[in-house]
Amino acid sequence: MKAEFALLAWFMRRCIRQPGRTVTTGRGRRFPPPKDLPARKLCPSKDMEGQCPQEANGSHPEQSEERLPTSDLAMDAGSCAGPVQTGETVIAEGKAKIIFPSANEVFYNPVQEFNRDLTCAVITEFIRLQLSAKGIQIAVPGEEKVEKVVVDLSEGEEAGSEPAPDEEGAARAVAAVGEVCKEGVRILEALAASGLRSIRFAKEVPGLRAVVANDFSSKAVELMARNVEFNGVGHLVTSSLADARMLMYQQKAEKHPFDIIDLDPYGSPATFLDAAVQAVSEGGLLCVTCTDMAVMAGNSGETCYSKYGAMSIKGKFCHEMALRIILHSLDLRANCYQRYIVPLLAVSADFYIRVFVRVFTGQATVKASASKQALVYNCVGCGTHHFQRLGKMTSHGSNFKYSAASGPPVGPSCEHCHQRHQLGGPMWAEPLHDPAFVQRVLSALGSNPGRFGTQDRIQGVLSMVTEELSDVPLYYTLDCLSSTIHCNTPSLLQFRSALLHAGYRVSLSHACKNAIKTDAPPSVLWDIMRCWERLHPVKRERLSDTSPAFHILSVEPTLQASFTVREDANPKSRKQGLKRFQENPEAYWGPKARAKAGGGISTSLQDKRKLHQNKRKERAEDGGHLKNIPCKRLKEVRTGWGGCESGGGSGGQRCGSSWPRCGCNTP
Ligand SMILES: C[S@@+](CC[C@H](N)C(=O)[O-])C[C@H]1O[C@@H](n2cnc3c(N)ncnc32)[C@H](O)[C@@H]1O
Ligand SMILES: [Zn+2]
Repeated sequence: MKAEFALLAWFMRRCIRQPGRTVTTGRGRRFPPPKDLPARKLCPSKDMEGQCPQEANGSHPEQSEERLPTSDLAMDAGSCAGPVQTGETVIAEGKAKIIFPSANEVFYNPVQEFNRDLTCAVITEFIRLQLSAKGIQIAVPGEEKVEKVVVDLSEGEEAGSEPAPDEEGAARAVAAVGEVCKEGVRILEALAASGLRSIRFAKEVPGLRAVVANDFSSKAVELMARNVEFNGVGHLVTSSLADARMLMYQQKAEKHPFDIIDLDPYGSPATFLDAAVQAVSEGGLLCVTCTDMAVMAGNSGETCYSKYGAMSIKGKFCHEMALRIILHSLDLRANCYQRYIVPLLAVSADFYIRVFVRVFTGQATVKASASKQALVYNCVGCGTHHFQRLGKMTSHGSNFKYSAASGPPVGPSCEHCHQRHQLGGPMWAEPLHDPAFVQRVLSALGSNPGRFGTQDRIQGVLSMVTEELSDVPLYYTLDCLSSTIHCNTPSLLQFRSALLHAGYRVSLSHACKNAIKTDAPPSVLWDIMRCWERLHPVKRERLSDTSPAFHILSVEPTLQASFTVREDANPKSRKQGLKRFQENPEAYWGPKARAKAGGGISTSLQDKRKLHQNKRKERAEDGGHLKNIPCKRLKEVRTGWGGCESGGGSGGQRCGSSWPRCGCNTP
């Protein structure tokens, strides 16, 4: 209360003392492309008022740090615009405090905190690696103190050029949070809205040279500039008003690439990818969000093709397929410029996906790109899927030969259920993650408990990620294996044990609660299900003789599956009870409506959300008793894997409204 009162008093004093000054809206203003900012030791409030009120009452956002005014490139937020005006609220996330208009004039989705936390965690480790190659250590608040000589990297030649030697005689420098690091990284948040993410970078991630927070909405940039000042990070964060593509092309043309580019658009990032793969520095990092999940997960394959150059299809593996499609698209676009991607981490969460990839240049490696992509043949009857790589790479001594792949991997109909295949892709068929990098992120979080609000979930998800079979694209889901043959579902441990007993590898997937990733061929999966059905028989007389269940169960298993539970069938992340899949974070959650001039969210959209959210949960709860009643459609040909209605289940979270029906309990 005291702090708020002081801020209000300060605001009123400023308005009275500077009656001529008005809030600059920035409407129609264009700014030149941002350059790195020179550092200046000034607290803007102090500079203008003689005394900073927040300092006086001890609530200065960066009391111990030097602060700078926002640059010329930023909006004029130093005017009578802040800090908090009537009708505005202050939202705290991480170390940032964001002034926010109550109306929906500038975008903010609190549910994306996980996305922002994860990004801070990932870029911290990326920067740690980048800077350690230059002999610079980073000091992350909460981590054990770096016992090295601290060198001020933010000011002057002298301080930066002569780092003092430590006890071992090695010259060490340490980059701290909130300080400009001359050797540090330059980040572009291309679609920054309120600037929350950029401000969090500035306040939580060490080793930054500069952060450019860009948006093409003048309202957003005006607010962002105020937020930059409010948080005292003007020396690190520059607001920019530009079309993100133009900004990236311009920076590329001026040979001023960004080390990290963050794309967090409304829906699809497709239109920004071409510029982003060019504007990122050699070995730099692209962080990309997609929230157009209906398109990417199979509801509109042709739209997916037009955006990403890949057909999405309906399948239980839709969450991972979406990850593989965006990676395919990024690699393809990079290839145009003799560049290629190396994924560090690709995560499916809630109603969106988020990928972190490095971009490198290399003609020879680009030649291998075709062999990293695959088409998928997915049976519409039983969901058995097979991959067809687009190219073939064979090694000849130290050289590689590239040729067309041979195929197809399947016959005209499915060998298990005699149904047709749908063709999806091409999609990225190589590993989604760099396990060593993910382990680094995990270790850093492990030694810094409580660094992020969603840390438990990050640790849970990343632990699962490290357990995933990296060489097995896509997955099967347990409930759909059993629903295909209309039998009850084995427990996860029983099914995993059966695969392990049979000599195959198996893992879960962070992308879906019931997922089974395995190197066992589909024939083994169906044999295990046949053995399970022998123990829990279905009423064969009810099966149509054209149904997938009939065909699959008509074949004798060649493998005698053992369902005796093995100790190693329970993955570590599950044993430890880590938070792997979270419950719905808030009512009517999901992708937020676009910000619009004048603010507000249309009542029709809100009503629609209320209407649809948990729709399938209600249906499953209402119809739970139906589970034991034979389905009328059992005698019909099932096209179950594309349209399984089993979105219910116990306790788990359902897909967001924009996911097509994937039949699992997870987002
Ligand atoms: C989903 S919001 C970004 C949210 C933000 N990254 C965060 O974490 O809170 C997308 C933003 O992109 C902006 N935008 C959309 N198209 C753009 C373009 N072509 N250039 C620049 N900004 C754009 C919108 O004005 C909007 O503020
Ligand atoms: Zn089939």
